[in-house]
Amino acid sequence: MTAETIYELTVEAPPGDLIAYDPIRLASALRIEDPSRLAIETDGMNHALVTIYPSDPLADVELPDPRELAMDDQGRIWVGSYHNGRPARMRLYDPKAGSAQRGLLFGTTGAGKSTGLQVILAAEKRSGIVTFLSDLKGGQSVPEARDNVDWFVTTPEGAMAQLRTMWLVMQGRQIRYAEAGRSKFLMNRPDPLLSLRIDEANRLLEKGAPFRDEATYYIKDIGRTGRSLGIGVHLSAQAGHLEELGGSDTLRGMLKDGEVILLRWTSTMMRQLVSDGLLAAGQSLAPIPKYSGAIKLVSQFDEAADEDAPGTQGSGYLLSGPSPTSRFRFFNVGSTTPVEGLDPEMLALYGDGPVAQLEKASWDDAGDAYAGRLDGPEAYAAIFPMEEEDEDGEGGGGARRSGGKKRAAAPGPAMPEPTKPRTRTLAERVQAVLEDSDGDMDAAAVLEAVNADGGRQVRLGSVRNTLTALKNN
Ligand SMILES: Nc1ncnc2c1ncn2[C@@H]1O[C@H](COP(=O)(O)OP(=O)(O)O)[C@@H](O)[C@H]1O
Ligand SMILES: [Mg+2]
Repeated sequence: MTAETIYELTVEAPPGDLIAYDPIRLASALRIEDPSRLAIETDGMNHALVTIYPSDPLADVELPDPRELAMDDQGRIWVGSYHNGRPARMRLYDPKAGSAQRGLLFGTTGAGKSTGLQVILAAEKRSGIVTFLSDLKGGQSVPEARDNVDWFVTTPEGAMAQLRTMWLVMQGRQIRYAEAGRSKFLMNRPDPLLSLRIDEANRLLEKGAPFRDEATYYIKDIGRTGRSLGIGVHLSAQAGHLEELGGSDTLRGMLKDGEVILLRWTSTMMRQLVSDGLLAAGQSLAPIPKYSGAIKLVSQFDEAADEDAPGTQGSGYLLSGPSPTSRFRFFNVGSTTPVEGLDPEMLALYGDGPVAQLEKASWDDAGDAYAGRLDGPEAYAAIFPMEEEDEDGEGGGGARRSGGKKRAAAPGPAMPEPTKPRTRTLAERVQAVLEDSDGDMDAAAVLEAVNADGGRQVRLGSVRNTLTALKNN
């Protein structure tokens, strides 16, 4: 056996049998000390392909030139490499169906989700795609994206503003395209592809998160209706929270025909993926170890080497691609050692080309939160209609005021709670507080009093809007 030889074994089990395997056991049986040298693919039935490499084939996956990230004519971007050296591509747009893709990027902490996301974001920028991005780790996960996407936010309120803005743009496009007699989305003819991405989506969607229900509604609706209007919604999350991501119902739709990438997982995560129907029970994926390389046992009487084994970050499976059981790895991007401030190598990935913006025809629909690229409560207050208390499921029906403009609010999320009696509107609650007070109250004081009256908790922005509206009446 020379150091360069690659061996490939084809394995066939008798018809009726399914091939199941334990990659570590197989490596041991083949006397391969470093399991990352072994690649196993199955057809989910009785065939398997086992490849034995002289060394980890994915140790170094280099992007030849950042310009290569731009989308090809089939709507795919090149994000990395499969173990056999074939390009790993993911689809953002399907030109035949005329539809945007939706997607999920899963993996445990440190698996490489945010870095992989930067590869995708750079590809979107270089493809003229309009990207709204929520980095819910306060902007720490993908800092280089800030000036390289159309709208960057770091708060749950900002994420909600982006979701609602996208949803309103979706309604606008629907009307325009219907008038033009179009049933499909044609990229850049004339409108750009739109992409809404949420990193650490679990923070927005997990149980107890304040916007869970609303966010779930928008993600579901955009995921369902947005495709033929050129709008894709994409989530990155720690899949340990799988059933917590707004309920598995939302996900099931996205998983069924979305672009799904699975990076390193934990065993509970895997159980959930199988029970949620993402993976067929019979389909086996070789787990991704945290480190590659053979584990060397060192006697207590010898000196141990104190070097870290190389990591496997960015390795995983493109479950929706043509080779779902074939291990792939995102391009190795960014500086090898952490740098102060923004990483110049990461910035180079995006390049200094222009950042695509939402088409002018949708600016009115998008409104003030988009115009100001707002974030936080300010963004939320700018885009959400001045709410009636919509706990009865009617949705916000009020008119929205901003800068003298009035807009009939589109129907909001329907979250029926039919047994609940109609509660007071925010305006009524604020009025009651003002009537009870004996002097001047500022907005913060009103907020405190309103939130103490036993009704739904509201935000300062909503109170401010209400005060302004009451004053104008
Ligand atoms: N594609 C990649 N290229 C180079 N380094 C990577 C890649 N993916 C992950 N890493 C390394 O692993 C670390 C953790 O990755 P990260 O993307 O932050 O994981 P996650 O978002 O899943 O927690 C990064 O700081 C980086 O050093
Ligand atoms: Mg991350």
